[in-house]
Amino acid sequence: MKQFMTSSLLFCLVIIAAMYEKGNSQVWNYRNGEPDGPEKWYVKYPHCGGVMQSPIDIVSSQAIYSPALTSLNFSDYLMSKGDNFTLSNRGGRMVQLVYSGTPIYLLGGGLPTAYKLVQLHFHWGANQYLGSEHYMDGKSFPMEVHLVHRQVQLANFSVAQELPYGLAVVGFFFQMSERNNTKYDQLLKYFHNIVKPDTATEVESFQLTDLLPANLDSMDYYRYFGSLTTPPCYESVIWTVSTSYIPISESQINLFRNLQNENLNNFVNGYRPIQDSNHRIVTTTLQDYPSSASLTHIQLHFLLICVFIVALYIY
Ligand SMILES: *[C@@H]1O[C@H](CO)[C@@H](O)[C@H](O)[C@H]1NC(C)=O
Ligand SMILES: *[C@@H]1O[C@H](CO)[C@@H](O)[C@H](O)[C@H]1NC(C)=O
Ligand SMILES: *[C@@H]1O[C@H](CO)[C@@H](O)[C@H](O)[C@H]1NC(C)=O
Ligand SMILES: *[C@@H]1O[C@H](CO)[C@@H](O)[C@H](O)[C@H]1NC(C)=O
Ligand SMILES: [Zn+2]
Repeated sequence: MKQFMTSSLLFCLVIIAAMYEKGNSQVWNYRNGEPDGPEKWYVKYPHCGGVMQSPIDIVSSQAIYSPALTSLNFSDYLMSKGDNFTLSNRGGRMVQLVYSGTPIYLLGGGLPTAYKLVQLHFHWGANQYLGSEHYMDGKSFPMEVHLVHRQVQLANFSVAQELPYGLAVVGFFFQMSERNNTKYDQLLKYFHNIVKPDTATEVESFQLTDLLPANLDSMDYYRYFGSLTTPPCYESVIWTVSTSYIPISESQINLFRNLQNENLNNFVNGYRPIQDSNHRIVTTTLQDYPSSASLTHIQLHFLLICVFIVALYIY
């Protein structure tokens, strides 16, 4: 009898723990003003209240040119034909394309090591004036795609997401176009399979570069250190935000907006509001921007030369 009681109790505890776990993994949304909305994420996910959060508004005039930011090598992205893609509507909060198959490495770009592609996903809004997570000089874009990579030496994504520099995410902004971006049809033709939250579909593979701007190997970009933009908001991400845009038409973006969120309403505005940069330094590959930052640089050199001359004079 006693043994029966003990095992029943254990069974109940396991069920309760599982329920708690499930409930706990769902307690956030993108609706500002609600108890589980972005301003309150930090209550259940303390990292979301950190000082190196993403996204941020990138201020181009304050970005500092860095020669260490060499071009990014996307050549592996060309090989993705023949591998497996799974497209999913995850809980009505994220649309992601998970990649498996021959590893795709992101190289170069001043990254400390090679990073391996895990998945890519999209953020969009209800209209063309919002939707991106990052801003450029106070301006947002209708959509933003994130290519999520993890450090190749680390065991898996779960481990990498908690370690500084564990992840490298590349973001591209979208720009409204009168015409369809027909290269996106390879992906969009599956969207009718993922309208409901928590649905997934296999996608016939194609070259991932089709989803990206044409000039990948020579693109300019901004670089800063930040976080995941969804809970648990770990501060583990080397961010690269490209200055090259992806064109998309209104009717194509509407296929995203017609997906359903967890309340079976139209899934729109799936982006986190911009976070305080807290004086983080943003570096860039853009050299010829007539910014105050580069002026400061010249002034610094001038000052050093003066100090040198004065030192020579004194001795
Ligand atoms: C990019 O990386 C590949 C290896 O994945 C290498 O063969 C190729 O030469 C690299 N390209 C450049 C421009 O460095
Ligand atoms: C792709 O998916 C098929 C069927 O789901 C599976 O048999 C195969 O091993 C997968 N290939 C790779 C490279 O993951
Ligand atoms: C990730 O790797 C760690 C360490 O090897 C392991 O403990 C954990 O179970 C793995 N997680 C997943 C989701 O595979
Ligand atoms: C543009 O794309 C939308 C969504 O896929 C489609 O319904 C429409 O027919 C396309 N328009 C043209 C001119 O191909
Ligand atoms: Zn994202």
